[in-house]
Amino acid sequence: MTTRDLREKYLAFFESKAHLRHPSGSLIPYDVTGRLDESLLFNGAGMVQFKPYFRGVARPPQPRLTTVQKCVRTGDIESVGDLSHLTFFEMLGNFSFGDYFKAQAITFAWEFLISSEWLGLDPARLCCTIFEDDDEAEREWEPLWRGAGFDPEAKIFRLGEDTNYWPANSFTQGPPGPCGPNSEIFYWTAAEPAPVSPYTREDYLRDEAQGKWLEIWNLVFIQFEWEGRLKNAARPHEGYEKEGMPPLPFQSVDTGMGLERTATVLAGQSSVYETDAFLPILRRIESVGDAQGVTLRYGSSEAQDMAMRIIADHIRTAVFCIADGVLPGNTGRGYVLRRLIRRAVLKGQRTLGLTEPFFHEAYEGVLAALGDAYPELAERREVIVQTLRNEETLFRRTLEQGDVRLREALESLQGERLSGRIAFQLYDTYGFPLEVTRELCEEAGVEIDLDEYERAFEEAQRLSRASGDMENVYADLGAAAVSATAPDAPEVTAFEGYEHLRETARLTRIEPHFGSEGASRRARVALDRTPFYAESGGQVGDTGRLLADAFEMRVLGTRKESGLFWHEVEIVRADGQRIEGQPPESLQKVLDSGWFFRSVEAEVDAPRRARIRRHHTATHLLHAALRQVLGRHVTQAGSYVGPDRLRFDFTHGQAMTSDELVAVERIVNEQALENTPVVTHADLPIEEARARGAMALFGEKYGDRVRMVEIGEFSRELCGGTHVRTTGEVGLFKIVSESSAASGVRRIEAVAGEAAGAWVQEQTQLLREAAEKLKTAPRELLPAIDRHLEALRKAKADLQKALSGKGEALAAVEAIPVGTLEITCELFDGLEIKQVTSRLDQAVAQHPNRVALAAAVEGDKVQFACKVGSEAGARGAHAGNLVREVAKIAGGGGGGRPDFATAGGKDASKTAEALAAAPKLLEAMLDASNVR
Ligand code: SER
Repeated sequence: MTTRDLREKYLAFFESKAHLRHPSGSLIPYDVTGRLDESLLFNGAGMVQFKPYFRGVARPPQPRLTTVQKCVRTGDIESVGDLSHLTFFEMLGNFSFGDYFKAQAITFAWEFLISSEWLGLDPARLCCTIFEDDDEAEREWEPLWRGAGFDPEAKIFRLGEDTNYWPANSFTQGPPGPCGPNSEIFYWTAAEPAPVSPYTREDYLRDEAQGKWLEIWNLVFIQFEWEGRLKNAARPHEGYEKEGMPPLPFQSVDTGMGLERTATVLAGQSSVYETDAFLPILRRIESVGDAQGVTLRYGSSEAQDMAMRIIADHIRTAVFCIADGVLPGNTGRGYVLRRLIRRAVLKGQRTLGLTEPFFHEAYEGVLAALGDAYPELAERREVIVQTLRNEETLFRRTLEQGDVRLREALESLQGERLSGRIAFQLYDTYGFPLEVTRELCEEAGVEIDLDEYERAFEEAQRLSRASGDMENVYADLGAAAVSATAPDAPEVTAFEGYEHLRETARLTRIEPHFGSEGASRRARVALDRTPFYAESGGQVGDTGRLLADAFEMRVLGTRKESGLFWHEVEIVRADGQRIEGQPPESLQKVLDSGWFFRSVEAEVDAPRRARIRRHHTATHLLHAALRQVLGRHVTQAGSYVGPDRLRFDFTHGQAMTSDELVAVERIVNEQALENTPVVTHADLPIEEARARGAMALFGEKYGDRVRMVEIGEFSRELCGGTHVRTTGEVGLFKIVSESSAASGVRRIEAVAGEAAGAWVQEQTQLLREAAEKLKTAPRELLPAIDRHLEALRKAKADLQKALSGKGEALAAVEAIPVGTLEITCELFDGLEIKQVTSRLDQAVAQHPNRVALAAAVEGDKVQFACKVGSEAGARGAHAGNLVREVAKIAGGGGGGRPDFATAGGKDASKTAEALAAAPKLLEAMLDASNVR
């Protein structure tokens, strides 16, 4: 069976059981409410996007859903290249939120696996595990096995929480949050016949350890709320103390079937690389090899096959990550992506002998294998290919530098082993895996200190593990120390701020902040409805005030968590209540009395919101204008929309020219003058928005119904932000800067409306002041600057002429004897050091026993150069060492070769002192070298 067939069969089966097909979440772990799950680097399971549904803080469109989720897990990256470990894989899942539970989850799974209408697997080749205490799961499985003619004792095995609880080990260790036992289904993959009764738990464990049983499906029964608190709040890694595990208000199901693995065993193949998910990629790598004159044929040698598998795995992960908005970088997700790309490039370069960039070409293979199931791959083709190509080119340059670093390190060794720290640095900074360093060291007959390497490696792993992987699935759910929630407080806030900036609402939640002196005046509060926009999609949150009969709060910012809007406030007035300085217990009493749960007038700071609105609409105009001027590869890669300015990051390989900047600015301003209405379609099916050409944000997650902001025919974007009514309100638009934000990503900062007016005034003032300095009018400034530059150039040339004319005379500068050698110390003002070094060459050529030292002062900096004659060198004078000591006196450093070296100093006022010290320093050097 192909992965295509399996994907479709799975979804169709669960559709036939009243499940709704739901799109995959982004690889960047946004949940269904659009909130980024900070506890995870990547989306690694089907349930991640649904956390708000499991906890009941948001309602699913239907209580039964089914998905194919794109997943990235990099925990086992060193095993990738074998026949089954993958960094990117697809997980098939069915979910019940408070609807069916264990019985039905198990019978659904059974029917799908066994029925000839679906997968038609032979139950003799299947078995299952359950959590050791889960009698209920056993009761469900037993009759199924028995009915099919098997002894349940040889088919159901009870195991501990490390394998049969989700999250793993959460039964005893937490973290707090929903959790539950699971039941895993295994497939017999060994060549010998599947075992028959009697077959014990021990037999199962032995065979599983030998890889004969392969897990294909995990059914999780989310049923409890794990309660507890950190053992030590200051040391979260010490884990949690369990306080209880009450049942959840409703029970849920989360299942996950590995697509590639299951398709492999269904097709009777032994490796995921033989499936349709991989074959086109391997074929593509072969043809890339042909184009570079390297014959690559999968299956012809183990070393080559392994490298091709690693490349095939990593190209899938890289392509999907970039399509979802991850770009190579030095931290977090970007770093993981960068390491994957580098690992693949190294394999291609070193093992396969691909001397030219090749990785981006493998993209076509991924497109052929998965493009029909994931339209984003074709939509983002240009960004993906360009990013991969840039990253590989950059890395190939880094590799050359790493080669130099390694050779230097090898040259400076004398019989010792290469330090493990250097080997690790080569791995971590230059991307050299240990095998490569080891190979090169072997060629040079040098060993590596492997213990030291291991220590450096483990330390780095410990640090990166701290950034979290799957074990943290619920880590963001901790509760505040003191808080109160009104009995009928809604779990999600109704946002009214598209239509109104002022609203009568009710305060329903409050969490005061504490400092060392007890409660501060700060707190966060939630309302049942709010006009305050919560930070998202780059747009900053609103500020303003909340006014009640008995108190007043200043709103400093607004954020949302799983659909609940939190207003960060300062309590300005609370009649008859003391808040500030109160200890937690007494403040809790005030909160429990319900004193805060009142009707409030919620008022957004309207002028500020108006400025934000202008910048948001300007951002859409800018995005569309960039695509017109630079091309359709331009995609948003991040933004900031505030009252003061906007910042827009977008994918584009090189700096924009000034003509391009002028064109973009002009187009945006023309659009503003058109005064086109800005129309919002609040609730559109995503397919319709796509069909109408709406641009989606890079890396953002969308549900099946979206909000689309349309500016005539000029721009359509999916966007939850607030906008002006017609483009005229944007006012003037000015680009303030264009720069590089990351490799392959440019950044524009711009201002609109009032901010643009202020910027223009400031620039005009600057011009006026500059003109005054040159005693001219602003419009005459350029010719005036040209005149000044020309005068300066002429003065420099005259000076140089004068100096070179005096060449002979200056060469006769007084030489100070030092033993049998001599030294000259010359000072030049306003010249660059390279302009004087030829004079030093001449001097030592004529006087081989001479050390010639020169200093050139430019402003408050000084440069030194030193040239040592051949005889002086033979007697132990060393230019690099001398110039370093001299430069130290002038607050600097440098050095270099024995015959010639330069150095810089930050404090030019010490130049004379430094030159004066040179003869003594030379003397000491000769004494030490003992050749005089
Ligand atoms: N969350 C479970 C897993 O990832 C089942 O989908 O294995």
